[in-house]
Amino acid sequence: MGSVPAQPWWRRAVVYEVYLRSFSDASGDGLGDVGGLRARLPYLAELGVDALWVTPCYPSPMADGGYDITDHTDVDPRFGTLADVDALLDEAHALGLRVVVDLVANHTSEQHPWFRAALAAGPGAPERARYFFRDGRAGGDEPPNDWVSAFGGPAWTRVREPDGRPGQWYLHTFAPEQPDVDWGDAAVQQAYDDVVRFWLDRGADGLRVDAAPAMAKKPGLPDAGHGPGARFDSRRWTDSPHWDVDDVHAILRRWRAIGDGYPGDRVFVSEAVVRPERLSRYVRPDEMHTTFNFDFLIAPWRAGPLREVIDRTIAGLRPIGAPPTWVLSSHDETRHVTRYARPQPGADPAAPDGDAPVDLELGLRRARAAALLSLALPGGAYVYQGEELGLPEVEDLPEEVLQDPTWLRSGHTVRGRDGCRVPLAWSGDTPPFGFTAPGVQPWLPQPAAWAVLTAERQRTDPDSTWSLYRDALALRRQLPGLAAEELGWDADAGADVLSFRRAPGFRCLVNLGEQPVGLAGRGRVLLASGPVSDVLPPDTAVWLATDGRRPDLRSP
Ligand code: NOJ
Repeated sequence: MGSVPAQPWWRRAVVYEVYLRSFSDASGDGLGDVGGLRARLPYLAELGVDALWVTPCYPSPMADGGYDITDHTDVDPRFGTLADVDALLDEAHALGLRVVVDLVANHTSEQHPWFRAALAAGPGAPERARYFFRDGRAGGDEPPNDWVSAFGGPAWTRVREPDGRPGQWYLHTFAPEQPDVDWGDAAVQQAYDDVVRFWLDRGADGLRVDAAPAMAKKPGLPDAGHGPGARFDSRRWTDSPHWDVDDVHAILRRWRAIGDGYPGDRVFVSEAVVRPERLSRYVRPDEMHTTFNFDFLIAPWRAGPLREVIDRTIAGLRPIGAPPTWVLSSHDETRHVTRYARPQPGADPAAPDGDAPVDLELGLRRARAAALLSLALPGGAYVYQGEELGLPEVEDLPEEVLQDPTWLRSGHTVRGRDGCRVPLAWSGDTPPFGFTAPGVQPWLPQPAAWAVLTAERQRTDPDSTWSLYRDALALRRQLPGLAAEELGWDADAGADVLSFRRAPGFRCLVNLGEQPVGLAGRGRVLLASGPVSDVLPPDTAVWLATDGRRPDLRSP
């Protein structure tokens, strides 16, 4: 084995997304919590990830699953206590796991003391300057401009003034319960500096910046040109007055300067759903360290578009020296087993047809191949909880249990994100599958069919998806070829095949076509996403050693 070049940990980390509400419940109320996560840390260490990103645990009325925060420096009692978070950090660190926490700075909860004070104070009061309160148009009855909310409908809601009359409007890029703060206000800037320091002081290894492109607005809040019924489509907008406005970067630089003052390679990762060519601006040397790659996530399961996204990602980031990240699923997106279970669209990298029937066996085969693809690419990767179990989206949740604000805001036409947030299946043969105490109903119901997908079952099955992830993560740590930052495509691979080398001695081959692909002469199989012989079947990936010998896989 060669030596692994020294790099900061985050340049090639595999980060496991813990969607806290749905990970594991220690308190027995049906909602995941910090205690549940602490108890499962050995599971994550055994799986072999490098770090966790933990979604919000802060006090919240839960209008948007905890992304509506009333106090950014405390813990909601439903999730635990600050002492639990301290223990989580200590225990994770003792197991060699880093912990990244969520920083939600575009908006607060409508129950935040700032917003309550702003409502109580009335028009023109300094308390309103922390948010965007404006008079309506048409004598006050129409929103101040045409901006749209990410969850559907206008981005403005009218308030009742302290005297009881209908009054000003306030801006909310997301749900009405999530008013946007005004980053032009010095008190806002100062308060968030303190939030960043609070979590770094406590020992967090980094912060994931929620909705980064929303944080700055064009002065004067001009119309965006959205027509009636316009949808939120930030990957296609150019020069939007409310998304990806250049002033966002001053905020990111401010936080980076704070983080750089701390020892131990603290990291910032931005969530930035922007036009592909704008993404690299978020990871310039004095801004975020990494950013989620949603273009990879939404690419169809086809060789051409995937290769195009991979090349574009690497080429866009190389000049500024930032590493790519590879993301397949998250708590905001349809799980990729289900996305890949539908007919994949053509050359246009748009989402697959959401109404087409699913072939979940096919989806899982592709998802397993996609895991080997994404874990073989240079840079870092994100694993969303449950993808290591091959969980599909739960598309038949009864309407009465749906909680995502999208469901309500779309007039009950878009079901939203609850289907990817169903609590994990840990053990046993019946719900709640070890997620919570026996007999307790999890906050979203789990399908009975998940009995065969529990972590307990899969950990002892060498052919399971869990074992595939564990083996891939172990190899990723050990193979020197996977530590380098370069990738070379094999020219002769064929139009439906992705075949690339990582030096020294590694090749990844993914068959996205309908015909088997010969493996002779390409290398020795180290790991395969499905059964292989001398050919690689469709929708299957392999990792190959190309130096003619199997590397020594014992711990160095
Ligand atoms: C992105 C988060 O991932 C999502 O869950 C949330 O609804 C929005 N930002 C608003 O905070």
